[in-house]
Amino acid sequence: MAARPTNQVCFETLQFGKESYSLENYRKIGGYEVWQKVLRGELTRDAIIDEVKKAGIRGRGGAGFPTGVKMSFMPRTAPMQKYLVCNSDESEPGTCHDRDILRYNPHALVEGLALESYAIGATVAYNYIRGEFMAEPIPRFENALKEAYAAGLLGKNIQGSGIDQDIYTFVGAGAYICGEETALLESLEGKQGKPRFKPPFPAAFGLYGAPTTINNTQSVASIPTILRKGAQWFADLGVKGSGGMAIFSMSGHVEKPGNYELQLGIPFPELLEIAGGVRGGRKLKAVIPGGSSCPVVPAEKMMTLTMDFDTVRAAGSGLGTCATIVMDETTCMVKTLRRLARFYHAESCGQCTPCREGTGWLHRVLTRIIDGKGAKADIDMLVDVANKIEGHTICALGDAAAWPVQSFIKHFRHEFEYMVENKGRSVVDDLPQVAA
Ligand SMILES: Cc1cc2nc3c(=O)[nH]c(=O)nc-3n(C[C@H](O)[C@H](O)[C@H](O)COP(=O)(O)O)c2cc1C
Repeated sequence: MAARPTNQVCFETLQFGKESYSLENYRKIGGYEVWQKVLRGELTRDAIIDEVKKAGIRGRGGAGFPTGVKMSFMPRTAPMQKYLVCNSDESEPGTCHDRDILRYNPHALVEGLALESYAIGATVAYNYIRGEFMAEPIPRFENALKEAYAAGLLGKNIQGSGIDQDIYTFVGAGAYICGEETALLESLEGKQGKPRFKPPFPAAFGLYGAPTTINNTQSVASIPTILRKGAQWFADLGVKGSGGMAIFSMSGHVEKPGNYELQLGIPFPELLEIAGGVRGGRKLKAVIPGGSSCPVVPAEKMMTLTMDFDTVRAAGSGLGTCATIVMDETTCMVKTLRRLARFYHAESCGQCTPCREGTGWLHRVLTRIIDGKGAKADIDMLVDVANKIEGHTICALGDAAAWPVQSFIKHFRHEFEYMVENKGRSVVDDLPQVAA
């Protein structure tokens, strides 16, 4: 079998090793050539949007919405300020690729922001970065901005083109909810990060009430390569309905956890092998394919899937952020679910009653079962509470809290029953290889 292409879009500069993030090295792979074309008047806004649409790239922030289609929603001829906002808040458990784009190829993001802003008629872009990324990602991105301004690639009337483009960094304060696009806008405006009702959608009423497009870091950073190498080249790397390559964040019980930029549509067994297989040669038990909010998939089913948006959705889960959490046979599904429930309870903004109260219930009932004080009826109550949260909140954090509960109990109910019957003892406590 021919080797799969790797690291060709967001991670292309990794070939330069230590200095992958410098402007000099970004230029070596053709960086800013497309932006220069725009500045010379050789690339129109429509041409950019059409290419991104043809590339078939779907948003990497979780919902998988086609990026080009979202760009076309912008009322770009409206006579008012318009904004592009990049979502680098990256807090979904399991997801860790955006921070590596900021660390290793920040210029791809800067050029992507300039190109997308131009295409949608915005002259100002903000990058909202997770506050915890102080060590490397934020300084590297800031440095890339500095280099781009110094090289005359950003600013007012850039190179006499008549094009203005400013990009600003905004550092968040470490709240998962601020990754939700309208909470992010509130936070950017200096308010508490509480999601807004939609409609109106940000394209009509976004930052400061102005038309705004919001895209994930990886979605934006892919745009320069798409335009440089062509929409068809990108689309062909992936499969129908899921164009291109994506960065899979492999975590959990694999030998080599990490970020792997690979083709969408890669069979899951191959992805698992690239990440070194299940640690210690143990048996695979289950996988969360796209970040903690996606429904869990049992091993047997997972081993038959390809990693693209439509296939994983048809299997009852989602590709989400391509954050693939691998669990081996020693995983207690009740304790794992409790850990997830704790996260969503802690991160609920408290605005909607079903989420504020329901996430607390989920966490407390799971704790009761783990403490050996649960009853069989608690298992159905968990499902009932999750069903009452799902679809009944302003934003999707409620769904994100409900889906793990529904799917863990659907596929691993016997583990919850075992724990209730055995007063807090887990199925895995009685596995011979664990006890040994
Ligand atoms: C609770 C919650 C947290 C989210 N966190 C992030 C995040 O950290 N990064 C991100 O890009 N999208 C996040 N999203 C999705 C965004 O709302 C939005 O769909 C995304 O930024 C759009 O970009 P894309 O179309 O390029 O994927 C989150 C959504 C929810 C409901």
